[in-house]
Amino acid sequence: MSSKLIVVIGATGGQGGSVARLFAKDGWRVRGITRNPDKPSNAALRELGIELVPANLDDPASLVKAFEGAYAIFAVTDFWQFVMDPAVHATAAQTGKMPNEVAVDREVEQGRNIVDAAAKHLSTLERFVFSSLSDTKKWTKGKIVWNLHFDDKAVILDYVSHILPVSPIAIIADHDIFQLHDKHPALAAKSSFLQMGMYMSNYRMQSPVFSPVKQADGTFTLQGRGSAAHLAPLVDPQNDTGYFVKALVAEDPGKTVLGTCKEMPYDDFWRMWAEIKGVELKIEDVGVKLPEGTPEWMRLEMEATVEYCSEYGWTGGDPDVKRPEEIGVEMGKLTNVETWLKEEKFEGLL
Ligand SMILES: NC(=O)c1ccc[n+]([C@@H]2O[C@H](COP(=O)([O-])OP(=O)(O)OC[C@H]3O[C@@H](n4cnc5c(N)ncnc54)[C@H](OP(=O)(O)O)[C@@H]3O)[C@@H](O)[C@H]2O)c1
Repeated sequence: MSSKLIVVIGATGGQGGSVARLFAKDGWRVRGITRNPDKPSNAALRELGIELVPANLDDPASLVKAFEGAYAIFAVTDFWQFVMDPAVHATAAQTGKMPNEVAVDREVEQGRNIVDAAAKHLSTLERFVFSSLSDTKKWTKGKIVWNLHFDDKAVILDYVSHILPVSPIAIIADHDIFQLHDKHPALAAKSSFLQMGMYMSNYRMQSPVFSPVKQADGTFTLQGRGSAAHLAPLVDPQNDTGYFVKALVAEDPGKTVLGTCKEMPYDDFWRMWAEIKGVELKIEDVGVKLPEGTPEWMRLEMEATVEYCSEYGWTGGDPDVKRPEEIGVEMGKLTNVETWLKEEKFEGLL
């Protein structure tokens, strides 16, 4: 048993929920942050002994309070809620920006609030783990510029430390969000980073980027997008995130790990699905282009993601990103892809 306290952002969501549940099971004191602790669906977390406190990533003072006494903090920000938000689309229309650019501003602002608040607790804090993604602009030398939901997380990472010394300049020039000198070296010395892989549950978004489409004759067609060139780092965030964070908290700081339970070609994931579900699947290579009629911001964002992951891989080829087995993750506890495919109902698809 441990009386150490971990404060978990996103405890009611996929990544944070996994972290909160695993640390509670391991006997840690767990404090989860949510905008609405009284939501009925949060009762299950309380039953595991997880304390839920109200805080908002837009409210720095609430974060400073919520981080009080933390030995470890797990932090995640959510890009996609912003691009779903009509207010973000209204701001985009008023300012002449794309909705995903406005989302970047919002997510980076929240990331900066988290980092500033964490840096106020260095007397107790020993490990800050931030869920980031790789820096497309850096690894493609500026060739791919619209993979914003990766790059804004890399900007937050740079705000913590000098680990990525040059990467965010293009984004900062575009968005003028903060100054490069405004950093937290003392917090950086206690930080580690998770680059979460590709959620197997992405098919639920019902986008042809992520899932096959059922045809009138009952067979399925997947738009292949060159995914065979690089392995997709598959992950089930609900189960696996806790194990990555557990290892990062136990290890010395300064590590970055790729959050994956198995790396495999994305096409093969769906071939395995077709075999398990007993359906016929055709894969047609369509390149990076999204279908006609896709909103412009979404087309720019997702084509950039696909191009980046196909040509450079999820981590951009960053040699410093460790595989889970290299940092002591309990590999046997991670999700088995075949079992996941068997148990997942694939409602709305099958
Ligand atoms: N899909 C993929 O393949 C993939 C891969 C790698 C990384 N990612 C990244 O994963 C991130 C999403 O993580 P997730 O899947 O864990 O999200 P999620 O399941 O949607 O959960 C979002 C969490 O964030 C909390 N939250 C949102 N806004 C908040 C605010 N203003 N103040 C306090 N808490 C707030 C929510 O808490 P309450 O609602 O309770 O307040 C909730 O717990 C995205 O940024 C995405 O880019 C996705």
